[in-house]
Amino acid sequence: MEGKRELTREQKIKLIMGADFWTNYDADGRLYTFVVSDGPVGLRQPLDRTTTEQSDCIKSVAYPSVQMLSQTWDPVLAYEMGRSLGNDCIEQDVDILLGPGVNIKRLPTNGRNFEYFSEDPYVAGVFAREYIKGVQSKHVGTALKHFCCNNSETSRHWASMEVDERTLREIYLRPFEIACEAQPWTVMCSYNLVNGVRMSEHEKLYGVLRNEFGFDGMIMSDWEAVKDSEASMNAGLNWEMPYNEAHQREMLAKAEKLDEKKLDASAARVAALADKCEAESKMRRQDMTLQERRAVAQKIEEEGIVLLKNEGVLPLEAGKVFVTGAPAVRYYYGGGSSNVYPERDFEPLAEALAAEGVDAEYGESVWETNGHQSHLGNLKEAVLRAAQKDVTVLCVGEPNTCEYESTDRQQIRLSKEEEAAIHALAEASEKLVVVVYAGAAIDMSDWIGEADAVLWAGYGGEFVNRAVARVLTGKVNPSGKLTETFPFRLEDVPAENAYRDEAVMLYNEGLNVGYRYFDTFDVPVLFPFGFGLSYSKFVYRDICLEKSGKTVTVRFTIENISDADGKETAQVYVREVTKEVYRPYKELKAFRKIFIKAHECRTVELTLDERAFAYYSVAKDAWTVKPGVFEILVGVSVQQIMLKQKIVL
Ligand code: BGC
Repeated sequence: MEGKRELTREQKIKLIMGADFWTNYDADGRLYTFVVSDGPVGLRQPLDRTTTEQSDCIKSVAYPSVQMLSQTWDPVLAYEMGRSLGNDCIEQDVDILLGPGVNIKRLPTNGRNFEYFSEDPYVAGVFAREYIKGVQSKHVGTALKHFCCNNSETSRHWASMEVDERTLREIYLRPFEIACEAQPWTVMCSYNLVNGVRMSEHEKLYGVLRNEFGFDGMIMSDWEAVKDSEASMNAGLNWEMPYNEAHQREMLAKAEKLDEKKLDASAARVAALADKCEAESKMRRQDMTLQERRAVAQKIEEEGIVLLKNEGVLPLEAGKVFVTGAPAVRYYYGGGSSNVYPERDFEPLAEALAAEGVDAEYGESVWETNGHQSHLGNLKEAVLRAAQKDVTVLCVGEPNTCEYESTDRQQIRLSKEEEAAIHALAEASEKLVVVVYAGAAIDMSDWIGEADAVLWAGYGGEFVNRAVARVLTGKVNPSGKLTETFPFRLEDVPAENAYRDEAVMLYNEGLNVGYRYFDTFDVPVLFPFGFGLSYSKFVYRDICLEKSGKTVTVRFTIENISDADGKETAQVYVREVTKEVYRPYKELKAFRKIFIKAHECRTVELTLDERAFAYYSVAKDAWTVKPGVFEILVGVSVQQIMLKQKIVL
């Protein structure tokens, strides 16, 4: 280290460990102090930067969860959310936003699924890449997390994720690989072990990150993910977070025995990041007003809401509407380090509907309490009131006591009380619309048959009810589609049945994660990956494939044959027909969301590069394309294929 970086061994040791919960050691004034703060669904910054306290945080724009973001199927919105968050960070003097997370939704029960994009590595990678580009366009850094295989919260500090090499490459590392194309300033390692080695000490996977994915930034630990500071440093971890007095004392005590090269390498990474933050901070300019950032939050929710069922009730027609259920009057969000304190007062659904010209009235029925138990409140009266109206809109879901960091859900059904309320209100109401506010798949099999319509509002951020009202009334034509499978029952998910104990989680389903399993083995689901209804109706035709080397261009036409302007997301799946190794039946390799006016046609063109046809060969230690026959399938969901054609590569 030279010049201002000429540091003593003691200073270097302090440099590779945080100074407190959120900042670096400034080497006695020689280095810029950078501030890191939580994402990914909004800026969470404790007012007191010396703690991780959840209770006292700045108020910030609460965006929809990234589950909702990916359900928009519009990567431009991921960039916009990133840019908007970059503006939030500038306002609060934050240098690095701790997000996005690209862990795969292997288990619907994972308590942090709402913080992750998808069960599909391509979707997760593309959305994270655009989000990172957006944040970093504002000269604010990101932390791509949690590297890797942090796919559940139970035993996250101790359990080893036992994953075979091919699955690791194709499913769990792939989103990191795609996201690294945006050059995140930092990567955060996860708590768990992978194949017996703690991720804060995983030299081999750090090697993949650096040598194969081209990551050139700083690797930080998750908060308290380091158990052995020296082993972590030797493996290539650069920054241990947060400050840990005992760890620092130990490292200082053995200062002379530490591997000097490794210490220098990590200290140089932290110093380089501090320099980068200092230089970039001078270029930061806010270019979005609060109103513009709120508009981004609202737009993402409007485009991410998924209409799951609609039997002739939506959009709402003139008439009287009874609104009930806790999320109609109370903000629902996921708990833990991503818990954002909305800067805007909560908007009750009845008020949002009234603002759209609907004659809506709220009454209490089922009231959320703790976890999977709710109060039934005034259900009798609610039933009487519902019977006098034309439509009942019942809001149900899972609050932050069900879905939160550090614990997984025990089950994926709504509380018994909520299910009872659905039954009672379905019986009493002329028409029943159920709106679900949660962060991960819900088993609706108990009641879905009784609802006339079901809308997935997710964790929709501070504009959730305005967006729900606009979709219910048809001001917004729903265009969101699921980015995770909704199984009929939890037991249907192979990963839920895989071996696990307190020390080990066996990923013995291999590549068969999410739709890759249900589609290949023809197992029925409640709602498939990629599914979502619209008020428009689209037809597909004229598929045409064009080959140039190992790149294939897919062209087709979509026509909106309805009277409603709308948006459609076409999904392109690839199937290897003449395979030499196991392949899931088909895999998503491209998608496009497109606006089509009523009775108009649009032609969509998408390119599939070599990687779209490749599998990771463990025998060759490389991505491999076997020449042969492939089928290109264009679908509106993984289950509903509209066009297909074969091609020889
Ligand atoms: C979480 C990270 C988060 C960090 C700082 C950890 O518990 O796993 O995602 O960024 O805390 O709050």
